[in-house]
Formats: sequence, structure tokens, C-alpha cells
Amino acid sequence: MLSPVLAWLTMASTSYAQFGIEHTQYGTSPPVYPSPNITGTGGWETALAKAKAFVAQLTLDEKTFMITGVAGPCVGNIAPIPRLNFSGLCLQDGPLAIRQAVYASVFPAGVTAAASWDRALVKQRGVEMAEEFKGKGSQVVLGPVVGPLGRTAFGGRNWEGFSPDAYLSGVLVEETVLGMQSTGVQACIKHYIGNEQETMRNPTPAGIEAISSNIDDKTMHETYLWPFANAVKAGTSSIMCSYNRLNGSYGCQNSKTLNGLLKDELGFQGYVMSDWLATHTGVASIEAGLDMNMPGGIGFSGAPPSLWGGNVSIAITNGSLPLERIDDMILRIMTPYYHLGQDLGFPVIDESTIPLSFYNRADWKYNYTLGPLVDVRADHTTLIRELGAAGTVLLKNVNNTLPLKNPKNIGVFGNDAADFTTGQYSLSISNLGGGDYDIGTLAAGGGSGTGRFTYVVSPLDAIKARVQPYGALVQYVTDNTQIAAGGLALLAPTPLDVCILFLKSWATEGADRTTLIPEWNSTIVVNEVTAQCANTVVVLHGASPQVLPWKDNPNVTAILAAHLPGQETGNSIVDVLWGDVNPSGKLPYTIANNETDYTIKIVNSTELLESTNPNAWQDDFTEGNLIDYKEFDAANKSVAYEFGFGLSYTTFELSELKIHVLATNASRVPSPSAKIIPGGNEELWQTLATVCAVVKNTGAIQGAAVPQLYLSLPAEAGAKTPVRNLRGFDKITLAPGQSSTVEFPLMRRDLSSWDVIAQTWTLPSSSIGVHVGFSSRDLKLNGELLV
Ligand SMILES: *[C@@H]1O[C@H](CO)[C@@H](O)[C@H](O)[C@H]1NC(C)=O
Ligand SMILES: *[C@@H]1O[C@H](CO)[C@@H](O)[C@H](O)[C@H]1NC(C)=O
Ligand SMILES: *[C@@H]1O[C@H](CO)[C@@H](O)[C@H](O)[C@H]1NC(C)=O
Ligand SMILES: *[C@@H]1O[C@H](CO)[C@@H](O)[C@H](O)[C@H]1NC(C)=O
Ligand SMILES: *[C@@H]1O[C@H](CO)[C@@H](O)[C@H](O)[C@H]1NC(C)=O
Ligand SMILES: *[C@@H]1O[C@H](CO)[C@@H](O)[C@H](O)[C@H]1NC(C)=O
Ligand SMILES: *[C@@H]1O[C@H](CO)[C@@H](O)[C@H](O)[C@H]1NC(C)=O
Ligand SMILES: *[C@@H]1O[C@H](CO)[C@@H](O)[C@H](O)[C@H]1NC(C)=O
Ligand SMILES: *[C@@H]1O[C@H](CO)[C@@H](O)[C@H](O)[C@H]1NC(C)=O
Ligand SMILES: *[C@@H]1O[C@H](CO)[C@@H](O)[C@H](O)[C@H]1NC(C)=O
Ligand SMILES: *[C@@H]1O[C@H](CO)[C@@H](O)[C@H](O)[C@H]1NC(C)=O
Ligand SMILES: *[C@@H]1O[C@H](CO)[C@@H](O)[C@H](O)[C@H]1NC(C)=O
Repeated sequence: MLSPVLAWLTMASTSYAQFGIEHTQYGTSPPVYPSPNITGTGGWETALAKAKAFVAQLTLDEKTFMITGVAGPCVGNIAPIPRLNFSGLCLQDGPLAIRQAVYASVFPAGVTAAASWDRALVKQRGVEMAEEFKGKGSQVVLGPVVGPLGRTAFGGRNWEGFSPDAYLSGVLVEETVLGMQSTGVQACIKHYIGNEQETMRNPTPAGIEAISSNIDDKTMHETYLWPFANAVKAGTSSIMCSYNRLNGSYGCQNSKTLNGLLKDELGFQGYVMSDWLATHTGVASIEAGLDMNMPGGIGFSGAPPSLWGGNVSIAITNGSLPLERIDDMILRIMTPYYHLGQDLGFPVIDESTIPLSFYNRADWKYNYTLGPLVDVRADHTTLIRELGAAGTVLLKNVNNTLPLKNPKNIGVFGNDAADFTTGQYSLSISNLGGGDYDIGTLAAGGGSGTGRFTYVVSPLDAIKARVQPYGALVQYVTDNTQIAAGGLALLAPTPLDVCILFLKSWATEGADRTTLIPEWNSTIVVNEVTAQCANTVVVLHGASPQVLPWKDNPNVTAILAAHLPGQETGNSIVDVLWGDVNPSGKLPYTIANNETDYTIKIVNSTELLESTNPNAWQDDFTEGNLIDYKEFDAANKSVAYEFGFGLSYTTFELSELKIHVLATNASRVPSPSAKIIPGGNEELWQTLATVCAVVKNTGAIQGAAVPQLYLSLPAEAGAKTPVRNLRGFDKITLAPGQSSTVEFPLMRRDLSSWDVIAQTWTLPSSSIGVHVGFSSRDLKLNGELLV
């Protein structure tokens, strides 16, 4: 008989070879066992001691249900243990709202937050979102998202996360975790890792395995793992493993990514939870590093009984699993619970959760005492409006069309301008309703990352309200089919002073985008409106990037990428259009000239869809780090609007580049004996150099600039090293004529590349190019840094 250890090793190391096919470039996922124990390092020591005392009192049956979700009032439920005064855990979607709740806020989506490039606002968004989860009795927010990162522009869930730039995503996920957890609520970073497309993200009932993201070690470290390291550094309680496979092995049973990269190399102290129904094995996934199975399989309508739960008791009793591993899983779950003070009293779950949950109450494993319905919105509308405007990027503004100077005769067009017409909740997965609706503004995408709107301020309503005091004429057509059919003929008097055209692009979990051109006949609609209107302002809502075939039409005088702003969408855009807010958003991605310019596509074809080869779905990340602007820069390809770009109603100037190297004779690699803190080797997070520059407002009004620092690592950093990598940014508000010094601290990790042979971050021996500017292609100040 195989020893239990060998038995699970055999089970866990899925390889291409077992399917009888060759896939030589990436091969298999190497086994990394055993699963590292929690140590409490990084400030969780006291909480770990409390968790140990708790675990010591649990029966075996209780232990198996501390790690296995059960039916209950929330999207995910760990059952209470009243005997031990443990309230259980209530896990709720998602990254922009407590998804299905009533009397809760719908915040700007991740991409909107990213477009603000504003650390303080992003952190405050985390605070206010988490306050709403807490108010509704949810200990765990299923968010924020840094996977997908946005490898392909067509990814259906890119909008839930921040940016395809790992550094920008890293900074913003860190701020979000700090903000959320400051309220005593746990963050759960999704989806770990390589979850870059929705198409075939799960295996089929016919036994075709999910897409395999085949990622080399260098790209893994320098791009996809990078923002997760920031989240771990910030002390995230939890990380959700993903549906896809990695090098042929499922995300929730991949010992290399879970035990190796996350718990060992990054020193992650919290728990790994599965995505919903992403657990395909019992013992194998537990040994590979998965700590919590969601939703658990028990009582979940239509789901098979859990491979965990009672099966874990059996596996322990028959010697397949060491009890110590189960104890470590519970310690990882309970340490953040104690660290955040969730044992010291937490609001009860709101009764409004019941009818919105997908479990039958009869199946609940425990009879919950639910509290009365609470309104958790507080004054969050202020931040939502502000961040919606801050995340709006002004792309074109010919002859200072914007800000508007109180025009009297205004046209408002497009199906995205109007209020909702098909309801306020667009779940749109598993035929649960919603979806790509025609008339109605798009302020949140679909799927588990959506939100239920208590109200929305549509752009049309906000424009009417804004001009009412000065009595402007507002004429509107919000049916695109009518506009496309020549339906603007009845406008009077013409010409209009300004036309504001609202276009949108839907995206949802469960599907990828098939085009990046805005939907609903947008190109025809633009032609129809501009034919009538020599002063057309186009506003884009929804998923991004969107490509703009009509951007050089002379009658399109201004373009705004307004993303997914949440419930105050109309007020946010009006604030920018009328100049109450000076736009300061910058693109957190690239807008290409043509959608065919994005060479990284979704893996998909009729042939694949019809294949009976269980291992047919393979996605080799052969471009390495060269995604988004790094792809375009490497190819010297022109783009419509580059990463980091965004106009203002004022102008700024940069000067006085200063480079300070703080460490002399720094060793090329971090000391292997340095402490592993959450986030990895502690020396990676030490500042080795700083770059300073002076930014000045040279225009006539106050505004915020976003100076950006890019580094060019020398050739020794390896093949496919990006021409430039973002490694610093700051947002700074300046009065006319005012100037200020910005300082970008550079940590060891920022200056290093991953050496796959030495398995460590390595500083180059030659100098690093330093570029400071206002976008990835507008680099005013250039210098060199030798560390
Ligand atoms: C995938 O395979 C590549 C190539 O062998 C290797 O560099 C990488 O570490 C593997 N990653 C995982 C998660 O197995
Ligand atoms: C984890 O701790 C247990 C004791 O609680 C020990 O038996 C086991 O070997 C440890 N595992 C690792 C990977 O250190
Ligand atoms: C163990 O898992 C199998 C397969 O899902 C299931 O049929 C069985 O009911 C489970 N047993 C227990 C005790 O949960
Ligand atoms: C022990 O129990 C687990 C879970 O039911 C099962 O998968 C495994 O085959 C069993 N092992 C032995 C040696 O009986
Ligand atoms: C039980 O937990 C509550 C908070 O949920 C706390 O107020 C109370 O003191 C605890 N009781 C015991 C016996 O620990
Ligand atoms: C919940 O309460 C009902 C009615 O009192 C009872 O029949 C049922 O067994 C209880 N369920 C649990 C899981 O305790
Ligand atoms: C912008 O202003 C210039 C100079 O006044 C004028 O020639 C040009 O036609 C204007 N362009 C638009 C689009 O209004
Ligand atoms: C995938 O391919 C099928 C069949 O060709 C097509 O209908 C579908 O739209 C494609 N999906 C995406 C996201 O490209
Ligand atoms: C585009 O416009 C035509 C009429 O011009 C209409 O028949 C068609 O349904 C429209 N398509 C969409 C997607 O709106
Ligand atoms: C721009 O507007 C003018 C004035 O309405 C019109 O004559 C012209 O045809 C328009 N151009 C385009 C490209 O639509
Ligand atoms: C985009 O590129 C495709 C393929 O080269 C071409 O057919 C199409 O006309 C281009 N679209 C635009 C708007 O330039
Ligand atoms: C891009 O341009 C740079 C500088 O002009 C040049 O050194 C490089 O070889 C070019 N790369 C490609 C792929 O053309």
C-alpha cells in the first residue's frame, strides 16, 4: 500500500502526460508539500494564541465544519458553534457592494477606482464598503479583485479588478485591504491565480477540464503574483483560489501556487478559500493548501454532497489526513477573526438576507437568529459621487469644449443616458436575470460582482437637474434603434449648442467580451449625432477598454471614459461636464486604435468547443510580462490613448528630477536568512532609492496632477522585460501657479527582476532608466539610477 503521503501526491500532481498528450513548453505543476503552518508572524501572534485555545476545544465533527461551508443565510456560511460562543462566519459578495442586499450602496467598480489613481479615495472606498458588510452582519467581504489582472482586453471580469498593470493593482489592493480591515471586516482577495478568461473557466459535465493557464515562473512573479504579494503584505485575511487550472492542475488543489508561492514564499498567514464549487478533491486539495471549501456542497441546490465535511472526518480517522493539517486550517481561519476583534461582538445577520439567499431555509445547518433590516448606506453617497468623478478620464477636449459654459440648447442621446428600464439588479449568471439590457445606464457590471441599486441617478436626470436653475432646453432620445434609423430629425431649434452622447459596453462574470467597440449600434449612433451636431461630447460607460473608431471625427469635440461609477453616476459625470470637478482620472489600461491591435485573445473556437479531448483547453502565456502598455511599447505600436493618459482643465509642468540612492553596496539579492513576513522576504520591502520631481500647475484653475514614475530595467533582467514598468505615482492637487515636490520611494522589489535559476529577486548590476511624466508615453524627465 502506498503511504498516505505518496497516495495524495499521486492524486494531486495532475500532468499532461496522464492524458497521453505532449505539452512540452510548460509541463506540469511541481509538487510542493507539506502545507506550511501558520506562525502568526507580522502582528497576528496574540490572535493566533486565542485561535489555538479555540481549536483545542473543538470536536472532530466541529472541526470538519469549520473548514466546510454549509447552507445558511449568506452566500457562504461557516456554521456557528453556540457552545463556544462562536457566531459563525457570513461571507458575502462582492467587490463593489454587498451584492444582493437592500438598503445598501453600489460603489464605483474596481476599474473606476483604479482610474482615479487616488490612494486615499480607494482606501476610503474600502472603509465604507466594509462598513456596509459589517452593518449587515457579514464578517468577510469577497473582494477586492486582482485576478483577472486584465491580460486580455476581452476578459469579462476585468472591470471588477483594478488594472492590467501589476504595480498599480498592487498599490490599490493594498489600500483597499487596509481600508476594509480597519473596520474589523475581513478582506478576501480574488481569484488566485491566472483567472484571465471566463470562457471554459470550469470543467464541463461531459468531463472536459477547465482552461489551463500555463504561466512561466518569471511572469508569475513579475506580473500575476505581484499584486497578491501586496495584498498579503497588507494583512489580508483570506485569498480565494480560482476555477482555472495552472499548468494542468486546478487552482484550488495546486500545491505549487498555494503551498509554494503563497504560504511559503509570500508567508501568507490567513486562509485560502475555494471559489464556489471550485473544489474538485477532498484530501488532495487539503494537502495542496486549500483551507476552506465554499460553498461546501451541502444544501446547495443541485450540488453534490461535499467531498469535505464528513469525508474529512473519515480521512482523518483512516489515516489519510493528519489532524495537524486540519488544525492549521482552522487556525488560519480563526486568527484573522480574533485579530480583527470579530469575537468581541459583531452585528447579527440582517433578516433581509433570507429571501435573497440561494439556500432553502429548511436546509440550514443551524437556526440563525436574524436581526431586523438595517439601512447601512450612511453618508456613503458623498464618496461614491466623488470617486465616480475622480475615476472619469478626459481623453479629448478640442478647443476647450469642456467644461460646459452653461449651454442653453442641449441634446442628450444614447441608451446609456436614461434611467434603468428593466430593473435594478443585473446578476446575469446562470439565467438568474438581468443581463445586457438596452435602455438604461450602465453603472455596474454583471455577475457576483454586481450590486442591487437602491436608486441610480441617471445621466439624463442629473443633466436636467443641473441646468434647471438656468432654464436650458434639454432634448433627448435614448432609444439607439431610433437614433440609428435617423430619429434625430425632429430636434429644434438646430444647431444645438452641445450634444452629449452616452455609449456603453456590457460585461459580466461568466462570459468574455466579443468586441471592444461600444454596443447598441454605437458607430451608427455617433455618425447620426455628429451629422446633426458639430459639438458632440461622447461619454463611455461600462467595461473597458473600449475602442473608438470615430475618435478623430471633427464633430466629436470631447470624449470621456467614465467607466462604472455606481449609483451616483449621473451626478459624477455632470460634476465633470460642468466643471464643478476638474477631471484628474488617468487610464489604468491602454486604448488601442483598433481592437485587432490587442494581440492577446480569449482562447476559444468552435473546434475547441466541440473537442472531446479533456485537456484541449490550454492557454500559454507566451507573451510573458508584455501585456497592455508593455505589449504596445515592446512593439513600438501606436495607440489611441496610452496607459496613464488623461487630460485636465488646467495644465501641469514637471521639472527638477532628483535621484537618491539610499543603500550603498546593497547586495544583489535579499538576504536568504532575512525574516519572511507576510508579503515575502522583508528586505524586498525596504526602500533602496528615491526619485523626486517638482510638479507645477501652469494653468488658470485648481486641479490634480498624477505624476508617474517608470523604470527601464537593463537587458540583464531577461527576455521580455518591459521597455518601461510603472514603479511610482502620486496624485497631487495644486492651485494655479502652485508647485510641489513629489517623492517616489523605490523598494528592493521595485528595482529587481525575478531570477528563475536563483529563485530570488535580483538587482541589476548596470543602471536602470528612470522616467517621470504624465503618462506611459509622455515622459518629460529622464535619468539613470545605479543601485
Ligand atoms: C508552470 O510551468 C512553468 C514551466 O515549467 C514553470 O516555470 C512554472 O513554475 C509552473 N508553474 C506552476 C504554478 O506550476
Ligand atoms: C505543523 O505543525 C504540526 C504540529 O502542530 C507538525 O506536526 C507539522 O509537522 C508542522 N508542519 C509543518 C509543515 O511545519
Ligand atoms: C463524501 O463525498 C461523496 C462524494 O461527493 C459523497 O457522495 C458522500 O456523501 C460524502 N460523504 C460524507 C460523509 O459527507
Ligand atoms: C479514507 O477516507 C477518504 C475520504 O472518504 C477516502 O478518500 C480514502 O480513500 C480513504 N482511505 C483509505 C486508506 O481508506
Ligand atoms: C460571547 O461573545 C459575545 C460577543 O459576541 C461577548 O460579548 C461575550 O462576552 C462572550 N461570552 C463569553 C462567555 O465569552
Ligand atoms: C431548527 O429549528 C427547527 C424548529 O424548531 C427544528 O426542527 C430543527 O431541527 C432546527 N434545525 C437545526 C439545524 O438545529
Ligand atoms: C477650434 O478652434 C480653431 C481656432 O479658433 C478653429 O479653427 C477650429 O475650427 C475649432 N475646432 C472645432 C472643432 O471647433
Ligand atoms: C467563443 O466561440 C463561440 C463559437 O465560435 C462564439 O459563439 C462565442 O461568441 C465565442 N466567445 C467569445 C468570448 O469570443
Ligand atoms: C441597430 O439598428 C437597427 C436599425 O437601424 C436595428 O434593427 C438593430 O436592432 C440595432 N441593433 C442593436 C444591437 O441595437
Ligand atoms: C459636422 O457638423 C456639421 C454641422 O452640423 C455638418 O455640416 C458636418 O457634416 C458634420 N460632420 C460630420 C463628419 O458629421
Ligand atoms: C481594424 O482592423 C481590421 C483588421 O485590420 C480592419 O478590417 C478594420 O477596418 C479596422 N477598423 C478600424 C476602425 O480601423
Ligand atoms: C522601438 O524603438 C526603439 C527606439 O526608437 C528601438 O530601439 C527599438 O528597436 C524599437 N523596437 C521595435 C520592436 O521596433
